[in-house]
Amino acid sequence: MSGDLRKQLEAHAGLALIYEEAWAEIERAETTAGLEEARVKHLGRKSQLSSLLRSIPELPAAERPVVGKFGNQVRTVLEAALAERKKVLEAAELERRLSRESVDITLPGQPFPRGHLHLITQTLWQIEDFFSGLGYRIAEGPEVETDYYNFTALNTPEGHPARSLHDTFFVEGKPEVLLRTHTSPVQIRVMEKEDPPVYVIIPGRVYRRDSDATHTPMFHQVEGLAVDEHITMGDLKGTLEAFAKSMFGAEREIRLRPHYFPFTEPSVEVDVSCMICSGAGCRSCKYSGWLEILGAGMVDPNVFGFVGYEPDEVQGFAFGMGVERIAMLRHGMTDLRMFYDNDLRFIKQF
Ligand code: PHE
Repeated sequence: MSGDLRKQLEAHAGLALIYEEAWAEIERAETTAGLEEARVKHLGRKSQLSSLLRSIPELPAAERPVVGKFGNQVRTVLEAALAERKKVLEAAELERRLSRESVDITLPGQPFPRGHLHLITQTLWQIEDFFSGLGYRIAEGPEVETDYYNFTALNTPEGHPARSLHDTFFVEGKPEVLLRTHTSPVQIRVMEKEDPPVYVIIPGRVYRRDSDATHTPMFHQVEGLAVDEHITMGDLKGTLEAFAKSMFGAEREIRLRPHYFPFTEPSVEVDVSCMICSGAGCRSCKYSGWLEILGAGMVDPNVFGFVGYEPDEVQGFAFGMGVERIAMLRHGMTDLRMFYDNDLRFIKQF
């Protein structure tokens, strides 16, 4: 065998080997990345095939056309196989990605926890609803008040014993500024601004230095004020009776007991017949059949003097109730502090 022929065969054998190995690796590649590795290895600049083709000029003249022809054939076939395999792998990879990344629009969404109004707010709104229905307007005033509106203009001058009954929070260094102890100062603010007739209710927070099972330092009141011509105590009683029936049930009755407030004359405390025992007597009403729900009275003419109303021309009644107390009575609660513990087991019941 001539050296030439052997070289030629070797060149062929080498090509055949290159071809088979490359073909096998292309077919085996499972990813486009793996396929790219095979391409670099077998068809890249540093591949055996490339160096063989590059060395053609150095080959004996007789071998050049053979190696050149077969070598280029091998390259064309491998390139086609690569392109074919690449298409298959790319399609498979796209398929996998699509199935992995697809959005299942039938999956239920993340539930969004839904809250509801606090029992105090619900109760406030019901009270407001009732009085709105009677034609009352809602008025509001500041929680940080002056001594003048909280006491003086409500016929409670300095040194008046009633002041000491209101365990008041004062602002340090400003003895005339305080947290209002009741919503009554807003009566004054409304009457200062408006001429009679006045029909308002005044919801809001009030503050007292007081803390036990039935008192929190902050609580809510709803004040009522009606000023007009020919207002009598009968109007007060009728209004509050309708209110008691709407809040506690149509069978409820009310009774008025004499009381004292500096800004009403006469003053009363209003009881509602016990909704638990219907008046027969039980622990809740301390066996009296009655539960106290609010304070009220006819507006003291002195108060009209502070706001420039003519006491000979108009009369009025006023009342004030604790919202927590109303809610507690309606729901049979015994500890007022539960409203402000923020315990969801309690809050979710209403
Ligand atoms: N402001 C009184 C209190 O807080 C309640 C009240 C209001 C009484 C209006 C009479 C008239 O106790």
